[in-house]
Amino acid sequence: MSNVFYIDKPLRYGMVGGGATSQIGDSHRVALRRDSYYQLVAGAFDIDAERGRRYGKSLGLEPERIYSDYQNMVQSESEREDGIQVAGIMTPNSTHYEIAKYFIEAGIHLILEKPITTKTEEALDLMRLAKEKNVLCASMYGYCGYPMIRQARSMVEAGELGEVRVVQTEFAHGNCATAVEKHSEGAAWRNDPKTSGGTFIMGDVGTHALHLATFITGQQVHHVAADFQNFVKGRVLEDNAHVLLRFEEGASGYLWASGVAIGHRHGLAIRVYGSKAGISWHQERPNQLLYSPLGETPRVMELDSPELHKSAKRLLRVMAGHPEGYFEAFSNIYSDFAQVLTARLSGKNQDEVNLVYPTLEDGAHGVKFIEACVESAKKKGCWVSSKLY
Ligand code: NAI
Repeated sequence: MSNVFYIDKPLRYGMVGGGATSQIGDSHRVALRRDSYYQLVAGAFDIDAERGRRYGKSLGLEPERIYSDYQNMVQSESEREDGIQVAGIMTPNSTHYEIAKYFIEAGIHLILEKPITTKTEEALDLMRLAKEKNVLCASMYGYCGYPMIRQARSMVEAGELGEVRVVQTEFAHGNCATAVEKHSEGAAWRNDPKTSGGTFIMGDVGTHALHLATFITGQQVHHVAADFQNFVKGRVLEDNAHVLLRFEEGASGYLWASGVAIGHRHGLAIRVYGSKAGISWHQERPNQLLYSPLGETPRVMELDSPELHKSAKRLLRVMAGHPEGYFEAFSNIYSDFAQVLTARLSGKNQDEVNLVYPTLEDGAHGVKFIEACVESAKKKGCWVSSKLY
């Protein structure tokens, strides 16, 4: 990988949530180990303390660093000379704010799962607190770690698409086409407004589609008009959403988030159309980007295409043609964050480490977007402001 950097000692990392039964915990563990920039040394892995203890033991952690809850973890780790420097938070949505606040107040840097909070004011509060405490936070929009997403962003930045006119993005799968919440812990909290934060599919997957759109175009969405449905009997929150988007520099957009799109497998895709060219990317074929310049034959860019921008090339890890994808995208975010954090901890000029990772502010935009969509849907699709500031 051309992205390699040297580190004296791995960053000491603690995990909150992500236990044996969790969906996303393993992706974080793979990502933190991938380039050896982190070492998992502590955890409060599970809401069930005994299950968490057993799991921590199976991961090889020292028994005294497997905690029954995150408060104990912060207190004990803060008293150790070799205490954790950075923590990953991957618990149900409604717990993020309280847990993140606790860590930031203790001066521990964070990688926080999305949606970073369930209310905009909480997200803004975390941003304020992180600034005050000089704590660095990433929000885990892992899909922006794909090389071809970096390529798409660089193409827009370089003007290769011209003026961006239309953005269409979707994260629509069929995994919740039946009442899965009756049998799965993860689906149950997502469908309970108290734990998911008043939205199911928008908070769960729509926010990823939004982040890709803003990441690639460099434009925030300032107004939304949303239409929500809940198709599955007994479900209280939306399992399908169509949203019209207005971007701040004039582009027009559309976002589809769904859990009932049977036949779509993971279903994350984005298409961007400018005045000079269009591009299209689908996560299930992540190493290809379809590029259609005006008046020319469309072509598929691959990871070894000569016209790839540096931002994409630097993320290649194996010879093109080998399958690589989701886990590497997650790892790319972790590794860039490690480089920036290491520079911060060693007092180096961070401008020299000009790397991209999704920030707390990106997370706050995501929360505001979800809130605006919920409000718009309640108002039968009226246009609602989604401006964070
Ligand atoms: P899950 O329900 O599968 O797992 C949650 C884990 O957190 C479980 O191990 C549970 O015991 C533990 N937990 C719950 N409360 C806790 C507490 N107070 N202290 C310690 N542990 C606690 O949930 P899943 O799917 O792993 O999602 C977790 C978070 O990650 C959510 O915010 C979700 O939106 C996000 N997520 C992000 C993805 C991404 O691509 N970035 C993909 C999937 C989930």
